[in-house]
Amino acid sequence: QNEIYLHGLEDRLPPFTTDLTALESSARERLEDGPFWYVAGAAGSGATARANREAFDRHRLVPRMLTGATVRDLGTTVLGQRLPAPVLLAPVGVQSIVHPDGELATARAAAGLGVPMVLSTASSHTLEEVAEASGEGPRWFQLYWPNDDEVCVSILERARAHGYSTLVATLDTWTLAWRPNDLDRSYLPFIRGVGTAIPFSDPAFRAGLATTPEEDVIAAVLRWVPMFTGTDKTWDRLPFLREHWDGPIVLKGVQHPDDARRAADAGMDGVVVSNHGGRQVDGAVASLDVLPAVAAAAGDRLEVLFDSGVRTGADVLKALSLGARAVLVGRSYAYGLAHGGEEGVRHVLRCLLADLDLTLGLSGHRSPAELGPDALHFG
Ligand code: FNR
Repeated sequence: QNEIYLHGLEDRLPPFTTDLTALESSARERLEDGPFWYVAGAAGSGATARANREAFDRHRLVPRMLTGATVRDLGTTVLGQRLPAPVLLAPVGVQSIVHPDGELATARAAAGLGVPMVLSTASSHTLEEVAEASGEGPRWFQLYWPNDDEVCVSILERARAHGYSTLVATLDTWTLAWRPNDLDRSYLPFIRGVGTAIPFSDPAFRAGLATTPEEDVIAAVLRWVPMFTGTDKTWDRLPFLREHWDGPIVLKGVQHPDDARRAADAGMDGVVVSNHGGRQVDGAVASLDVLPAVAAAAGDRLEVLFDSGVRTGADVLKALSLGARAVLVGRSYAYGLAHGGEEGVRHVLRCLLADLDLTLGLSGHRSPAELGPDALHFG
């Protein structure tokens, strides 16, 4: 903030808007139709995507005065890992659709700030390339759980060998939802982008093909589709993940308190309370509205992370007050990437963290650990 004021004295403006809620409309002007709707789109009528934002607007902070909040520390610990702030980058697939540098740009920006990036299985760069781009930065890996166990184990072993510390298994997207924005475009941007995705570079995946994916993308896509779509699992399959991943495991897409209890019973380490940014079940409840019940069910058996709808520092504060240990942001940084590659993602993260820091302090709190339900107004 001070940097911006000082640059203002020299008539220098920030490179992109600092209003993170306005990034979507400015991305609309920068991106072509297909890439824009790939990011902005939601399931069905968009009711759940809207509900996610409305839930944040319904909750209000109650600032406290004279608390000595001039000295603050945003740092927190998530699954045993010390983080500079309670913020992570959510897995967003095929980022080359919005910028040619894709996940490499995102990894560099995240690493520069020490913010963990959760790399999607549907990444448009290999996990080895992204690991190299992120250098010493903290990295997590998101799993779309394939039907082929050999391919699954092979991907998990590569991720582990390349320093991905935490596994995020996404449960809510075992098949893609009814997404008119993508269907109307025959998923074209997605299908084009996915040709370079992680599975295509996997030795176990390639071993099942007569030709290389470079020689015959269509054959590779035809092998990929049944392996990665229609992959619903049941709770009794979780020991398989435990067996093949020796770090923390987090289940993403949990919305019901009973599912949180089952995750804890299965020996999982955490959950992400998420409805995939409203991209899966249209008409599903706002993710923020189920957070308190899931957090209560998790108790001290699971760490609770949150996503879906986070755009501002105040949003982060609200989710933490309702029981999240940290939040993941999705579309916001994807729009940053669209605006300016690595610089765009860095801009979004710096704005979000500065906004969070100021709003935390002006609300009278010195650290995320001080937040609880009494930071919010009820009734
Ligand atoms: C996603 N999301 C997602 N989740 C996941 O587990 N694996 C993935 O590959 C993707 N891909 C993806 C692409 C795009 C373009 C978007 C917008 C989202 C969901 C993502 O991790 C997160 O749950 C939501 O984005 C959170 O909501 P907001 O922050 O976008 O409102």
